Amino acid sequence: MAKAPTKKQKQDDRQLIRIFDTTLRDGEQAPGNSMNIEEKLRVAKQLQKMNVDVIEAGFPIASEGDFEAVKLVAQQIKGPQIAGLCRSSEKDIDRAWEALKYAGERGRIHTFIATSDIHMKYKLKMEPAKVLAAAIKAVKRAASYTPNVEFSCEDAVRTRLPFLAEVVEAVIDAGATTVNIPDTVGYTIPFEYFNIITYLKENVRNIDRAVISVHCHNDLGLSVANSIAAVQAGARQVECTINGIGERAGNCSLEELVMALRTRHDILPFTTSVATDQLTPASRLLTNITGIAVQPNKAIVGANAFAHEAGIHQHGMMMDKSTYEIMTPESVGLSASSLVLGKHSGRHAFKKRLEELGHDLDEDKLNRAFERFKTLADLKKEVFDEDLDAIAVDESREDVKYRLGHITVTCGSFAVATATVQLEIDGQPVRTAELGDGPVDATLKAIKKLTKTKAKLLQYNVGSITGGTDAQGEVTVRVAEGNHTVVGKGSSTDIIEASAKAYVHALNRLNYKQKRLSESL
Ligand code: KIV
Ligand code: ZN
Repeated sequence: MAKAPTKKQKQDDRQLIRIFDTTLRDGEQAPGNSMNIEEKLRVAKQLQKMNVDVIEAGFPIASEGDFEAVKLVAQQIKGPQIAGLCRSSEKDIDRAWEALKYAGERGRIHTFIATSDIHMKYKLKMEPAKVLAAAIKAVKRAASYTPNVEFSCEDAVRTRLPFLAEVVEAVIDAGATTVNIPDTVGYTIPFEYFNIITYLKENVRNIDRAVISVHCHNDLGLSVANSIAAVQAGARQVECTINGIGERAGNCSLEELVMALRTRHDILPFTTSVATDQLTPASRLLTNITGIAVQPNKAIVGANAFAHEAGIHQHGMMMDKSTYEIMTPESVGLSASSLVLGKHSGRHAFKKRLEELGHDLDEDKLNRAFERFKTLADLKKEVFDEDLDAIAVDESREDVKYRLGHITVTCGSFAVATATVQLEIDGQPVRTAELGDGPVDATLKAIKKLTKTKAKLLQYNVGSITGGTDAQGEVTVRVAEGNHTVVGKGSSTDIIEASAKAYVHALNRLNYKQKRLSESL
């Protein structure tokens, strides 16, 4: 028989803040952040390693791709609970459970409906009584599949408090075990949000039967502060995303919230289960996948977050790190670029290092990545973690439609640049040559001709992954067609090849997005 929890365990549980990560759902909805199934699974594996409590893997009814992604995450990820979002309709809930059932009792149905006057009147065109009835019905339906049901009152912050309390009480009676009080439009401030949570604690009869969750958007730059205020008022689950990505100005940033709770434990006596040394790897993985970099001064994971530039600061740091450092770089998983492998390193050491960096490649991809590493190690004296990250990210892509073959370029101060490019399109090899205004232009023109794309190249950036003229170049392109904008990335010691890879990557992502849209409801 299971032992009854001790007083200390009960106390610890009261102070434990559950981390609900919605990078793969709310985060992925944001422009430029869409991920394919295989990319979502990689992020989910990193979230598992980081030990978050819940992974919201998607919105199963939104499209076939979303459904498959939630199902795959539910099948493969062990440890965290897996949530899937659904509106308060039977069709949505049934579809969500179809994908989530593979996680067994770790599967969580997350259903929602808007409760503010603005949303009920203009968006739903429903009377409050109808909204209340729909919420109860949805939760009952979800609870018929699993006891693990979360209900969200969309736009809770702009909802009349007595109605908010009425809905929350009713859905708990109907079977919700987590009640989420989102600041959907990023409108609240800490003091007000604290009072909303306090109001619910004081006015909802059965509130102790559910975990209070918060979900803050960052339109006023207050999402982390608001989430902390809610925790102080009694919320015990925070919904957040890696790098704070999400609709509009984004969501509460997971790394900022977790490190604020850890660093200010003296006045915020709460804990999370997050392995904080996985925060930097998670941030980098997401950046590598989406191609969207975080600003250099971003708290916790920005390139300058632990850089001390001013002489007076450097002097203080040399005397004692605590002068200017409130947390260590190691605590967030940041270590100085280290020389990891050389040309004599074997496949085993290579594979192990990739795994430590969060890359889990299958045999084929690993072989290709290892070949590239060997070539790079021959060209470059030193191979860094960042180089390995770039190779692994490139090689782990499922470039389903277009795959880059060979490129030959002739150029010079007198010659007209010419590029001959070979691609595979749906497995069929094709080849063409184009002239251009420089070798990059000629190469991209040849790819454009072969793929017959109508997409517009909006942005082209080139940078280097590490220092030195032998460094790998990294190219990022932004490409748009119709309503879709995507980012593509490619790396190589040859900048022309890196450009071609980035462009092909972007076209594959565009193709995936267009396909997903044509499947969606
Ligand atoms: O912002 C929001 O209200 C949401 C809900 C669906 C939880 O994302
Ligand atoms: Zn949201």
